[in-house]
Amino acid sequence: MEPIARGLAGVVAVATRISHVDGDRGMLTIGGYAVEEIAPRATYEEALHLLWHGRLPTAAEADELHHRLATRRWLPAGTITLLHAAAARHLPIMDALRMAVDTLQLDGTPARGGDAASNLSGAIDVVARVPTIVATYVRLRAGLPPVAPDARLRHAANYLAMLRGRPAPEEVVRALETYLVTVIDHGLSASTFAARVVVSTRSDMLSAIVGALGAFKGPLHGGAPGPALEMVFRIRERAARSGRPLDHEARAWTDEALASGERMMGFGHRVYSVRDPRAEVLAAAAARLFERGGDATLYADARTVEAAILDVLRERKPGRRIETNVEFYTALVLHGVGLEPEIFTPTFAVSRVGGWTAHVLEQIGEDTLMRPMSTYVGELHDRWLPAASRPL
Ligand code: CMC
Repeated sequence: MEPIARGLAGVVAVATRISHVDGDRGMLTIGGYAVEEIAPRATYEEALHLLWHGRLPTAAEADELHHRLATRRWLPAGTITLLHAAAARHLPIMDALRMAVDTLQLDGTPARGGDAASNLSGAIDVVARVPTIVATYVRLRAGLPPVAPDARLRHAANYLAMLRGRPAPEEVVRALETYLVTVIDHGLSASTFAARVVVSTRSDMLSAIVGALGAFKGPLHGGAPGPALEMVFRIRERAARSGRPLDHEARAWTDEALASGERMMGFGHRVYSVRDPRAEVLAAAAARLFERGGDATLYADARTVEAAILDVLRERKPGRRIETNVEFYTALVLHGVGLEPEIFTPTFAVSRVGGWTAHVLEQIGEDTLMRPMSTYVGELHDRWLPAASRPL
């Protein structure tokens, strides 16, 4: 039997200039820049330009990209009808987002261009509209009127304004923007791979993004930050009730969770065997945000909980090298920005759609069908049996 690369672990399937993950050294490069260098400084629009065009924009190019995105934020009427129907059933946000992206063609935008300019235009369309879908849906589901996009605001600021119903202070926008740039791309993650597989058949941008969203929403990928924050809150509550120190309760919590076969959300990664560098960037962003206000003890408590969980993981899973991943500090930053946990994964998608579109454009240029092999492990039968003679 051929050896099987279970979960495709260790398999290199594409060459890309979009991002690089060095799991042994704990390094992430986005468009050639270390994540620590670019994430605290770049606007989301600048990061998009870098991924789509292979270089940072000039000031004029950044303005032009802002304009192109800002004028494409409006949703087709059919998409809004669908969001109303989903809200009436109180469907999860990620499900509404996946369904809504599929309807973006309703204003006559072709799903696939044919030349590089129209493919890029398709990328701009979907990146511009994903935040509008999320914000519109969140408000409709809460019984609130949607807020129209504001073309004067940059991508991150407009997303927050559409969610909150009023503009956010600059330091809050900057914290969200740091997050959006930090997680915009991450090598061949499951969702990115899914997008590339879809478009490798010469399918189209929107189909690829719908496929990516389906892969993304699972708890082993984009779905972890909400549960990670909930865990910190519940450990804090336990410590408040018992009067025992927080680290003691965090250790007890982790012991119990591991004994019942649970995974610690926000820890472990398929590629990193050391601490996820994105966790560090977001920890710094969270620290800056919490210094300026909000729940000042939350940051310190999260550090205590993190250290206790890592201790127990090292004891209970020796040799596994399970470290903190991006989701643990994502939870803190997004909480500090004022978002509810149920909006964490959709906000991750608001960022990652930029990476997905860049990979789709790269894959269209590559034009190679992705089609791996499988090993058959079923039975072999000599002859066809009529239904009446089949054994139970
Ligand atoms: N808590 C407890 N045990 C864990 C964890 C965890 N978070 N992560 C891995 N392990 C253990 C796992 O139980 C197994 O142990 P054993 O062999 O004794 O049964 C061993 O480590 C290997 O696990 P695996 O599932 O084969 O490893 P993987 O490379 O497929 O796991 C992962 C990667 C992210 C799915 C996993 O670490 C996990 O489930 N983490 C929790 C969910 C999470 O935080 N997801 C966000 C990932 S970062 C966002 C992104 O980039 O997508």
